[in-house]
Amino acid sequence: MALNCSTFSSLIVGAQAAAEACTKRAVLQTCGRYRVCRWYSGVTHEENRLEQVGELVVPGSHRRVLKDVLPFSAFLTDSFERRHNYLRISLTEKCNLRCQYCMPQEGVTLTPRSHLLTAEELLMLARLFVREGVNKIRLTGGEPLIRPDVLHIIAELRKLEGLKTIAVTTNGMNLTRLLPSLKKAGVDLLNISLDTLVPAKFELITRRKGFHKVMEGIEKAIEMGYNPVKVNCVVMRGLNEDEVIDFVSLTERKPLDVRFIEYMPFDGNRWNFKMMVSYQEMLDCLKQKWPNLEPVPGEETDTAKGFRVPGFRGQLGFITSMSEHFCGSCNRLRITADGNLKVCLFGNSEVSLRDFLRSGATEEELLHIIGAAVGRKKKQHAGMFNISQMKNRPMILIGG
Ligand SMILES: C[S@@+](CC[C@H](N)C(=O)[O-])C[C@H]1O[C@@H](n2cnc3c(N)ncnc32)[C@H](O)[C@@H]1O
Ligand code: SF4
Repeated sequence: MALNCSTFSSLIVGAQAAAEACTKRAVLQTCGRYRVCRWYSGVTHEENRLEQVGELVVPGSHRRVLKDVLPFSAFLTDSFERRHNYLRISLTEKCNLRCQYCMPQEGVTLTPRSHLLTAEELLMLARLFVREGVNKIRLTGGEPLIRPDVLHIIAELRKLEGLKTIAVTTNGMNLTRLLPSLKKAGVDLLNISLDTLVPAKFELITRRKGFHKVMEGIEKAIEMGYNPVKVNCVVMRGLNEDEVIDFVSLTERKPLDVRFIEYMPFDGNRWNFKMMVSYQEMLDCLKQKWPNLEPVPGEETDTAKGFRVPGFRGQLGFITSMSEHFCGSCNRLRITADGNLKVCLFGNSEVSLRDFLRSGATEEELLHIIGAAVGRKKKQHAGMFNISQMKNRPMILIGG
């Protein structure tokens, strides 16, 4: 059965009284001359389902979110009412390091260049997401700072009204050289990955030299006023778990936020449970040195559990995706360098926005595709042991 807009409106208006009784989930939208009451999570996905089986035709423009009425886009709200206002975009599959936990030893097959998103495609998608309510974009990879047009992309993102934060996650290798231009282009937040403070170990973990360049990049970021500078440290047993105290000691005088990340399984990284050091184990170790370590309150959607040593300039945090997942408050979506939308880091369901874009899909059609994918997002990931058995991409081809 095909419904036209006014039939749809009257059906919905018929349910308005009931909807208004539960105003938290109901929103008003305009459909032609009609004001319709919409369940901004549920209705959308039902519509998506009906549209997929060809039962519902709603003219595109009527699906547009009214920003002054609707608190957040229905397309970016999943069936558990999680609002996805944070988009991570991978700029490249390439990298100038080869970290053991990220890049498979045998390397990865790179996507042909013509299948990667161009800057224009990427910016078009970013614009669409921001229009729907995304207010933070993180550029990642691979190593985002080796993409030749990275500054152009950032400068264009900066023009997007509604985009509050542009963040970059980088291995820091090119940071000293690029930082002034990155700052000028509009980067607000920097996460720099560093897993060891021992130069020889850096080479072992990353399979490349470069420790001093990264340290210089961190210093430069501090000098240029980034505060805090976030340092991402993946902790692996037998490799660097003996360095957590040294990393926290760095926060005594430097405005660093060191974030210890539990080692996560991805394709080709030979994850095994014994190598994962849990948040609780790291915390216990740090409390032996600093018994007065205190929690730092954070935002609901924070991925890190924050702590600090009283009197220290910086702080620390734990990203506990394995031992205590934070799926319930997940607000993140990802676009891979080859243009796939990934609604969960640990899920293997993906949809190619690139293919829809290149086949001439309108913005409204793209929104429907995005809305359907977000609607299928699972409540939580499958648990570390299941994830380690599942097919996914290597991390380098996702973008953390
Ligand atoms: C994939 S990298 C991409 C950005 C950049 N090249 C970098 O290293 O910061 C993003 C983040 O993912 C983290 N990461 C990669 N593989 C991981 C794994 N198996 N478990 C936990 N974190 C991982 C890295 O340490 C890094 O902080
Ligand atoms: S973690 Fe970052 S730096 Fe290391 S291999 Fe992956 S993408 Fe490259």
